[in-house]
Amino acid sequence: MDFGISGKRALVIGGSSGLGLAVCEALAAEGVNLAIFARNASRLASASAHLTQRFGVKVETVAGDITETLEVQRLAEQLKKSGGLDILILNTARPPSPMRQFLDETDDLRWSQAYQQQLNGALVVLRFITPLLLEKSSSRLVAITSATVKQPMPSHAISTVFRAGVQAALKHLANETASRGLTVNAVAPASILTAGLATHHNLAERAQAIPVKRLGTPEELAATVVFLTSRQAGFITGQTVQVDGGMTAGLV
Ligand SMILES: NC(=O)c1ccc[n+]([C@@H]2O[C@H](COP(=O)([O-])OP(=O)(O)OC[C@H]3O[C@@H](n4cnc5c(N)ncnc54)[C@H](OP(=O)(O)O)[C@@H]3O)[C@@H](O)[C@H]2O)c1
Repeated sequence: MDFGISGKRALVIGGSSGLGLAVCEALAAEGVNLAIFARNASRLASASAHLTQRFGVKVETVAGDITETLEVQRLAEQLKKSGGLDILILNTARPPSPMRQFLDETDDLRWSQAYQQQLNGALVVLRFITPLLLEKSSSRLVAITSATVKQPMPSHAISTVFRAGVQAALKHLANETASRGLTVNAVAPASILTAGLATHHNLAERAQAIPVKRLGTPEELAATVVFLTSRQAGFITGQTVQVDGGMTAGLV
C-alpha cells in the first residue's frame, strides 16, 4: 500500500533508540525525511548514519532536552527555517525505574522527574511544534504513550498519572485542530520487547500474562504509527490505538 507520505518530513522526539528509532526506520522505509531530537549527541549521530545509509533519506539531528523549554523553542525555529514539518512523533523517556505501587511512590524527586519527562516535556513539545504542523494543509501528530492510559496497571502509578495528562492534552489538540488539516492520535503500547523492558522483567512470565502469549515487537508498534501518519488515516483523529497483545481488558 502506498501511504502517501514519501518525501514528507517528520520530527521524531526520542528517535535515537528503542521505539523511537523503530518508528524512524519505518518512516524512512516509506521515504520520509527525518529530524530527530534527543539529548545524547553520539547516539543521535549513530542513528542518523544508520538511517541515511540504509534508507537513503535525509536525516537532521538536533541535540536537546524536552524538559528545557528554550531548547524545544530553538528546535521549532530551526525546523521552520529548514522547510517546516508534516509529521510529529511525540515520544518520551521511560518513567523512573523501578516502577512502584502508588502508596510506595514516596520520593518527591521521582514524581518531579516523571512530571518533567512524561507530562511537562510533552506539553512543551506540543505547544512549540504544533504551529509548524498547522502551516501545512495536511499534517499528522502521533504520540507514543502507554496502555496505562486506558487501564491503570499495578506498579505503574508514576506513569499513569502523567500520561493521563498527555492524553487530555492530545484530545484538546485533536478537537481544536481537526478543521485545520491536522490529525492527532496516540499509540498506547504495553509489553513491546525493548532493551528497557528486557532489563526489568522475567520475559517468559510476562509473555504468559498477555492474551496473545507473546511480547510485541518494536516493528509492530512502528507500523501502527506509520499507518496513523498516512493519507489513508485522514479521517481518524483524537483516538488512541492500543498495541498491547490484548492486555487492556476494558470496553474502550
Ligand atoms: N516497551 C513498552 O512496552 C512500553 C510500554 C509502555 C510505554 N512505553 C513507552 O514508550 C516510550 C519509549 O520507550 P523506549 O523503551 O523506546 O525508551 P528509550 O529506549 O529510553 O528511548 C527514549 C528516547 O527518548 C530520548 N530521550 C529521553 N529523555 C529525553 C529528553 N528529556 N529529551 C529528549 N529526548 C529524550 C532518548 O535519547 P537520550 O537519552 O539521548 O535523550 C531516546 O532516544 C517510553 O515513554 C516508554 O515508557 C513503552
